[in-house]
Amino acid sequence: MSTSVNIVRSERVAHFEQDVWSIFTPLALECQAVNLGQGFMNFPPPDFVIEAGREALLRNDCNQYSHPMGRPRLRNALAKSYGPLFERTLDPNTEIVVTAGANEGIFSIFAGYLDQGSEVILMEPFFDQYISNITMNGGVPVYCPIRPKGDTSKDMSASEWKVDIQELESKITPRSKIIVLNTPHNPIGKIFSREELEEIGALATKYNLLIISDEVYDRLHFDPKKHERIATLKGLWERTITVGSGGKTFGTTGWRVGWLIGPKALIEPALAAHTRVVFCVNSPLQEAIAIGFEQAEGHGFFGSQVSAYEHKRDKLLSVFKELGLPCTIPEGSYFILVNMEKVQVPQDYVFPELLNSRAKDFKTCYWLTKEIGVCAIPPTEFYSKPNRELAEKFARFAFCKTNETLEAAAERLMKLKPYIKK
Ligand SMILES: Cc1ncc(COP(=O)(O)O)c(C=O)c1O
Repeated sequence: MSTSVNIVRSERVAHFEQDVWSIFTPLALECQAVNLGQGFMNFPPPDFVIEAGREALLRNDCNQYSHPMGRPRLRNALAKSYGPLFERTLDPNTEIVVTAGANEGIFSIFAGYLDQGSEVILMEPFFDQYISNITMNGGVPVYCPIRPKGDTSKDMSASEWKVDIQELESKITPRSKIIVLNTPHNPIGKIFSREELEEIGALATKYNLLIISDEVYDRLHFDPKKHERIATLKGLWERTITVGSGGKTFGTTGWRVGWLIGPKALIEPALAAHTRVVFCVNSPLQEAIAIGFEQAEGHGFFGSQVSAYEHKRDKLLSVFKELGLPCTIPEGSYFILVNMEKVQVPQDYVFPELLNSRAKDFKTCYWLTKEIGVCAIPPTEFYSKPNRELAEKFARFAFCKTNETLEAAAERLMKLKPYIKK
């Protein structure tokens, strides 16, 4: 016997739109498309990290609760690895919290700082989870676009996407509490320059804002660009929490290990929330990430990882060059924004109804997945509604994939040729 139960969902989740992943991941599977959509690696983490995880599972102390701040071994390894990068000695007992991925860390910062109606300044495009992390904690996202300042009909560097600092300042109100920075950036691949960070930092100081610096791709930056950390600029350590991800660092996105680094006084409210949300992060994989950091240098891991990604980036860029589709060349992270304006999707192509309310890029990416057999993600998902038109000519391709997968994608993408306007 079936009963129909109607229990009304909370306002907090009622307004969520169907997210882009739940449309494109099943579609890619259904069409057996090569999936360059979601940013997960389809190759395994390094052997020494896997081995460390296997050994940790055999130790009882690694199968029980850990300290809410994170296992001491991981906090010590993070302090040792990040101290020189932050140009200071990091205290593993007060300045580092291990979180369930970067995402839960960001959620916990918002939970620790936002009151009903507090505003958070986001630069768009943004990592889509920020929005729900803010609104579920009573906050209000306020948007400022990063715009392409170069000629998007040609290849351009990700550094040519710029935020207008006066426009950013105009978004600040007495309710503003936090500004979120993401560098290296998803999906642009931009690494903010020192001058840009100084300007953003000066605004945060002027208006007394907390800076969340989402640096989950900090180990993926391509020559000659170096990753700069806002927390190392004069006077900004005191107001910055930097967010990191074991998933991005070691190719273990499913392990859900991340961290927050910042001064004790800033970290405490986030730790308070984190302790109530997850209490602690899974123990064996924290141990494995700790060993990953301890052994990374001996394996020359970070350098060889960057070279491998650089090779993948160039491989995919060469495909779009051959097709004559202009790209934003990433300086970091593992995404390429491709200008799809020249691709002529047949006018009589029939799209499912759920795409009617979405911007043009949803249709282009749907057709690409279904008819060409390569899945990419529509970047308007990473914009507020009023600014979506800024991104509707682009598609985001992730290159954190095996060379074989990239080659298979390249072969299929050649099928685009007859649809490309000369
Ligand atoms: C900019 C950015 N921040 C945070 C995250 C979340 O990282 P994690 O998987 O460690 O939660 C992602 C994941 O794609 C991301 O792109």
